[in-house]
Amino acid sequence: MDREPFDHVWIHARLATFDPRVPAPCGVLEDHAVAVRGDTIAAVLPASAPEVRSHRGAVTDCGGELVTPGFIDCHTHTVWGGSRAAEWELRLAGVPYTEIAKRGGGILSTVRATRGLSEEELFQSAVPRVQSLIREGVTCVEIKSGYGLTVDDELKMLRVARRVGERLNVDVSPTLLAAHAVPPEFAGRADDYVSLIVNEMIPAVAREKLADAVDVFCESIAFTSAQCDRIFSAAKAHGLAIKGHVEQITNSHGAELVARHGGWSADHLEHLDDAGIAAMAESGTVAVLLPGAFYFLREKQKPPVEKLRAAGVSLAVASDLNPGTSPLASIRLAMNMACVLYGLSPEETLAGVTREAAKALGRGDRLGTLEVGKRADFLVWDVAHPAEIVCQLGVTPLVGRVVSGKSCDA
Ligand code: NIG
Ligand code: FE
Repeated sequence: MDREPFDHVWIHARLATFDPRVPAPCGVLEDHAVAVRGDTIAAVLPASAPEVRSHRGAVTDCGGELVTPGFIDCHTHTVWGGSRAAEWELRLAGVPYTEIAKRGGGILSTVRATRGLSEEELFQSAVPRVQSLIREGVTCVEIKSGYGLTVDDELKMLRVARRVGERLNVDVSPTLLAAHAVPPEFAGRADDYVSLIVNEMIPAVAREKLADAVDVFCESIAFTSAQCDRIFSAAKAHGLAIKGHVEQITNSHGAELVARHGGWSADHLEHLDDAGIAAMAESGTVAVLLPGAFYFLREKQKPPVEKLRAAGVSLAVASDLNPGTSPLASIRLAMNMACVLYGLSPEETLAGVTREAAKALGRGDRLGTLEVGKRADFLVWDVAHPAEIVCQLGVTPLVGRVVSGKSCDA
């Protein structure tokens, strides 16, 4: 006998598809069904369609609830050791982030703590952070290295990221961020450290398939655009994608560099100029907005959201979860901040953690919308309006989660 065309059908849903071909806000289709075969969306149909009514396999009635694609947190530093709360107290008392970094604090203090922990210890400390993201609907998370800064410690961090994806119900996109800070043993010899990244770290990571992409911190207190250029060329030669922390504190023309290399995303962007916007629009590089870091650093300059929009650049939103500048394991808080601090609409922020975030991870063909052929990652929300997901903090109105076609507890 022929197998049923679908394994499981979710019926009576208000589907927020984020399919750009659906003209309604959020691509909403009222009273629809999502039919799943294996881990993939096999059909999106009106609930009354004959294929839905004749389905004999598993059925879940969504009772008219809103269904969105799974959330994608496309920029995090989830694996770290130690705490930077004392440094936060200093910052509150007026000492700037750049000054703390120059004194050997900031990223380097987390590097010291992270080097001192085993893979198991790092994994155990990362688990509650990832669980917090999962509880808010995250089904795919990008996780960067960048607090190891030796070959062994960077690989250790990336193995922890991989283990998170194997042990928890979340898809992980790992990123090598060896160019996060110049490690103390290379003080005054940044070019030599870049050579280590180019000649040893990138080849090792590519060989062991431990990362999808290579990231850099292109900034006055980190790496120059010439150094980042060397790193990007090596990444491309090893088949790895490119992204960058750029124009966060100053304009170092990092966005143009990322765009010139055809990078997936340019992230932060508070000091982005018109040439950077034009280059990103031209290359299709996604702008990843990280309002958590803007908030915690009490920055004044906002990214040029209006101009990015006008230029047609894709806008994604992410938590930037890290111990120093964005200690928030909450994609919903980041979304709320994107609205309140940066002026995105709730619909833009929802697209920014689904369709646009998928593009920022090079996974737009498989994740980010409710369309046939996409992986069946979706969320059921007890809300009357999509904006409620972004508006109310503290209570998460998530009542159902489906990951790779399988129902999980919400
Ligand atoms: O995204 N900008 C550089 N990297 C992180 C900060 C990491 C840290 O301070 O530990 C960021 O803000
Ligand atoms: Fe970051």
